[in-house]
Amino acid sequence: MKREDLILQYICSHSEEEPQLLQQLNRETHVKTINPRMLSGHLQGRILKLLAQMIGAKRIIELGTFTGYSALCFAEAIPDDGVVITIDHDDELGEIASRYFSLSPYKKKIVQLTGDALDVLERIKQQPLFDLAFIDADKRQYSDYFDALYPMIRKGGYLFADNTLWDGHVVENGGGKIDNQTLSLLGFNRKIHQDKRLESVILPLRDGLTIIRKL
Ligand SMILES: C[S@@+](CC[C@H](N)C(=O)[O-])C[C@H]1O[C@@H](n2cnc3c(N)ncnc32)[C@H](O)[C@@H]1O
Repeated sequence: MKREDLILQYICSHSEEEPQLLQQLNRETHVKTINPRMLSGHLQGRILKLLAQMIGAKRIIELGTFTGYSALCFAEAIPDDGVVITIDHDDELGEIASRYFSLSPYKKKIVQLTGDALDVLERIKQQPLFDLAFIDADKRQYSDYFDALYPMIRKGGYLFADNTLWDGHVVENGGGKIDNQTLSLLGFNRKIHQDKRLESVILPLRDGLTIIRKL
């Protein structure tokens, strides 16, 4: 086994255990979906939960439900009267997610919406402000997601954006040919870094997790 895999294994075995339902979901996602790497997984899931607890988040909005793993981590973190609104445009994956939501003790806190993320945000933009947004849908639309979400977050609230290092592509020049997702993430990372209304840091966790605080 590679040294970095051994370190990850060590970290996971010395961190909070992955809850049983999430272990089951993790396995089913690996068996039934084409790209199971999209799932947050044990380490990132526990970190998302802990960060949401540290923030004291009560209202969370997520773009990119996939099979529901991160939504379940957030639902675990918030109080009983809190809510996680999670959005995805994929009906088939939505079936797996909703089955796991219904098995979870936190099911009452999760609202699952189906549709294009930007369209759904437009529809629900009058909702009370959110404490935390998790951006994890189409990498080519991260900047648009940020612009739509910014007014929906309370002052002092947070936005997390996943995959912002994009497998290291953000530091490669691609021999002059940069794909659309990398281009978009380069633009997003620059925009967040330059925005004086924010404090932010890119955590080198997994594929890069940007933590943004709205001042
Ligand atoms: C990386 S996965 C989300 C992983 C999940 N948050 C987790 O941590 O387990 C990205 C998801 O975004 C969804 N997605 C992509 N483009 C979208 C769009 N325009 N609107 C809504 N969902 C979209 C995909 O269907 C996919 O399920």
